[in-house]
Amino acid sequence: MDFMCIKIKKIIKQFVEETKLGKEIELNIEEWKMKKILIIEASPRNGYCKAISDDILKQLGDIYELDLISLRDLNIDSCTGCSICLFAGSSKCPLRNDDVIIVLEKMMWADGIIFVVPNYSLGVPALLKNLFDRLAYLFHRPRLFHKVILPVIVQGVIGGKKIADYINKVMGYWGMNPVKGVVVTGGVYLNKEKSSQLIQKDKHTIGVGLKRFSQEINRTKVKSPSNLSLIVFRMARTSIKYGEDALPPDKAYYQKLGWFESNYYYDVKLNPFRKIVGICIDKIAKRMVMKV
Ligand SMILES: Cc1cc2nc3c(=O)[nH]c(=O)nc-3n(C[C@H](O)[C@H](O)[C@H](O)COP(=O)(O)O)c2cc1C
Repeated sequence: MDFMCIKIKKIIKQFVEETKLGKEIELNIEEWKMKKILIIEASPRNGYCKAISDDILKQLGDIYELDLISLRDLNIDSCTGCSICLFAGSSKCPLRNDDVIIVLEKMMWADGIIFVVPNYSLGVPALLKNLFDRLAYLFHRPRLFHKVILPVIVQGVIGGKKIADYINKVMGYWGMNPVKGVVVTGGVYLNKEKSSQLIQKDKHTIGVGLKRFSQEINRTKVKSPSNLSLIVFRMARTSIKYGEDALPPDKAYYQKLGWFESNYYYDVKLNPFRKIVGICIDKIAKRMVMKV
């Protein structure tokens, strides 16, 4: 697999170890080593998704600090739709004593997350959808900034690309930087051997995805928001600041993080033109909210 940057890091690491170079280089190597990757495997059975996750673990093992969770091994109760997390805060969720918090803590720990997900009826399996629902307050109060997401969809025949796009969209709203997902083949029968040709094809596909993911995770500059993300932020904060129906936890969260005054969710320089556009959106949004 073409992992040029990973190979280079390995060579430099070996070089540093052999020559005992100064602290500065060792520190940089430490930084690389410190990147943390979480794999979230979302199949209800120990099948192709698990095999693919294990393979990814092997490929990335030398380079990153890794963790894998299989959602089927956790106890995550079904969202009941009470919406208490939205209007009273996530700590008031009546189901808060199950494992959902473990998943969120691990997501907060990671620099990058790889979702390995089976295609179920052209969508994500209920296990994963339930996780999204249980954490849906993150649409209102995003917090996974500067983290990279790669979806790997495992399917029988058709529909995987849209699922990858859907996962990226959700994670984008939660603050993450999405990397174009990949789709590989699984199958219904676990005892049916995949042809070596198919295995090679899947390995190549996953390799392309991991390369994109590695490049994004090693990015040194803070990512500038897209125009759409900037508009979403400015509209949301204005409606939370002035809207009669704004939810108290959202208001408190934005206040605490200084988002009513900031350019964006995180510290990022906007060029003068984008600054002006931002101010115009604030004004338009305020007029819209106050009219309602
Ligand atoms: C309930 C169910 C629905 C499925 N729906 C689709 C589908 O819509 N499109 C598809 O290509 N494969 C579909 N599949 C096939 C799975 O994506 C495939 O078996 C995959 O390998 C499952 O991952 P696993 O082996 O980790 O369980 C479905 C399988 C199941 C059990």
